[in-house]
Amino acid sequence: MAYRVPTVVPMAVDTRTDRRPSSYAGILWHSTVGKKTAMAVSGIVMLLYLVAHMLGNLKIFFGAAEFDGYAHWLRTIGEPFLHHEWFLWIARVVLLAAVVVHAVAAYQLSRRDIAARPQKYAHKKKRASYATRTMRWGGVILGLFIVWHILDLTTLTVNPHAAAGHPYANVVATFSTWYGNVIYIVAMLALGLHIRHGFWSAAQTLGANRPGRDRTLKAIANLLALVLTLGFIAVPVSVMTGVVS
Ligand code: HEM
Repeated sequence: MAYRVPTVVPMAVDTRTDRRPSSYAGILWHSTVGKKTAMAVSGIVMLLYLVAHMLGNLKIFFGAAEFDGYAHWLRTIGEPFLHHEWFLWIARVVLLAAVVVHAVAAYQLSRRDIAARPQKYAHKKKRASYATRTMRWGGVILGLFIVWHILDLTTLTVNPHAAAGHPYANVVATFSTWYGNVIYIVAMLALGLHIRHGFWSAAQTLGANRPGRDRTLKAIANLLALVLTLGFIAVPVSVMTGVVS
């Protein structure tokens, strides 16, 4: 039998090979389970931050000196090993990375979900489940809230008081406006729903759920969502009722 010379395919034409990820991290990120894992891990990073942030916010009940002193201390963590505010900047970079990974993975997963829908549903406009829709809209609301919140209490661009180094007075000013209360309370309710379902999803993705343990995990998710929502909402409610002024 005559030997046949194999056809040579130029690399540039083999586009599928060009797009294939070459590293383990790349392969993981391209897989659905990899994106879900990235969402779960980035979600947990943000959740840990939120627990610390909520506890820190409650210092407002001990007066302006303690709250402002706490905000000042946040800028000195790690000194003299770290330079002034370096810890804060490291935390900001980690949080920003978590938000970006979480949002990009969520967007790509929902695109994949729509593309994978069976043809017979394409013309029927089959709607995503209630939980999925709540998570998508909740995520968008929280993304917009974070932008507003940074403009309000970090850069002070939209804060009615805007006194750098005086977060207590700035927080009181925010919750002395009707729109400040509406924006924060709506966002905190969205946050509670997001954490309730998100924590449970993350536990499933990371394989923490086992028969008999599901009820405990759901109870933890409900408790976390309730404590964080009430803890955050306590601040605007106290300003509105005059407990904090
Ligand atoms: C009633 C609710 C809240 C109040 C009163 C509040 C208050 C504050 C204050 C005073 C700061 C500035 C701290 C400082 O510069 O020393 C801050 C920063 C921040 N808050 Fe909140 N917060 C609330 C809810 C939230 C929520 C729900 C999130 C996330 C979803 C969040 C995310 C952040 C982030 C990421 C920063 C850091 C911004 C930066 O310095 O780069 N906050 N918050």
